Amino acid sequence: MTLLDGKITSKAILDNIAAEVAQRKAQGHKVPHLAAILVGTDGASETYVASKVKHCQQIGFGSSLIRFDAEVSEAELLAKIEEINQDADIDGLIVQMPLPKHISVDKVTETISPAKDVDGFHPINVGRMNKNLPAYISATPLGILLMLEHYGIATEGKHCVVLGRSAIVGSPMSILMARNAKVGNCTVTLCHSKTQNLAEHTRRADILIAALGIPEFVKEDMVKEGAIVIDVGITRVADASKKSGFAIKGDVAFGEVAPKTSFITPVPGGVGLMTIAGLLYNTLQAAKGAYF
Ligand code: GUN
Repeated sequence: MTLLDGKITSKAILDNIAAEVAQRKAQGHKVPHLAAILVGTDGASETYVASKVKHCQQIGFGSSLIRFDAEVSEAELLAKIEEINQDADIDGLIVQMPLPKHISVDKVTETISPAKDVDGFHPINVGRMNKNLPAYISATPLGILLMLEHYGIATEGKHCVVLGRSAIVGSPMSILMARNAKVGNCTVTLCHSKTQNLAEHTRRADILIAALGIPEFVKEDMVKEGAIVIDVGITRVADASKKSGFAIKGDVAFGEVAPKTSFITPVPGGVGLMTIAGLLYNTLQAAKGAYF
């Protein structure tokens, strides 16, 4: 079994991005700038956004964190997005999810300019990705593609089973693994909460990507010998033995599943770090005007 190490892989990718930024700066280009909007004070969202901002600083990007309290009106939030769309200094914009219930995720997503949509959530980017056209790809699926590429894992002709059909991870992941691309060309099965006989599908997976958000859902008897297992879960569960009061759990029961696999991502230290690499990769492309 080989560990797919998000720390090592994301560092390699971020080092490449930092080198390109330094080179572009020396040529007189401005540095890429990522703006993040955070609504409310959700603990996990605070952590993710702080990490995104920290990594921007580490690799020489500019960054802005714009905070609103949870009661902000939808109109005020949309007006801020419109303002950033017009700001030539800002290359990429993300609005951290989840949002309070009174704010429409669809309206927010569709208000962000597709050219600054480094989360890849806008229907134009989703549609372009579907057509295999240049587009921003949602950061977690992109990070997983970058990881598979980094480890030289051949995907062509393999059976990939994706667990979960979220707009952010499961749905785009299923499309990306099926499309005709360097990492892709799989036969894909997309499983979700209404799937019957789920374990029969997962046991046929050469590549199993778990993105359900249910801690330790994937057990040893659901995985084929020698499978490649990618764990996207990052659920906080109460743990009094930790200083923070919680532990981070993946969707895979790592201890029992890992010995059966050929490759597996740990949690933490796996896909989570690749999401940051995917986001900052997209932000560099935005600064270069690569897609629009
Ligand atoms: N919440 C959980 N994952 C993500 C992500 O990739 N982007 C944004 N904006 N919010 C998230």
